[in-house]
Amino acid sequence: METTTAVAWLPVCHTTDIPADGGACALVEGEQVAIFNFARRGEWFATQNLCPHKQQMALARGMIGSTGETCEPKVACPFHKRTFSLRTGECLNGDECSIQTYPIKVEGDVVYIGLA
Ligand code: FES
Repeated sequence: METTTAVAWLPVCHTTDIPADGGACALVEGEQVAIFNFARRGEWFATQNLCPHKQQMALARGMIGSTGETCEPKVACPFHKRTFSLRTGECLNGDECSIQTYPIKVEGDVVYIGLA
């Protein structure tokens, strides 16, 4: 049986607040969320800002890119270069750690994060 989770969309910033092909951090209900404007792909992503490797609030300042045959979108932590899928949060370096990702959408010039 498939379960569905209701998502509440919260406006968190304007599109102009996030640099093209970069990220910025927003405080969403007390949690730091990294928001990425992956302009080269025409996509937006949101993840936790906390890098689980050494507990650094850093992912919003990470380098974004694509990897592999599926062109998986990823972010590399600026500290020790652990990379995480922007889609699933999986650590792409083979480590056990992973990060939380959030639904994200843009309507007009407003960026929304989806919370369960
Ligand atoms: S703190 Fe992010 S890779 Fe080490």
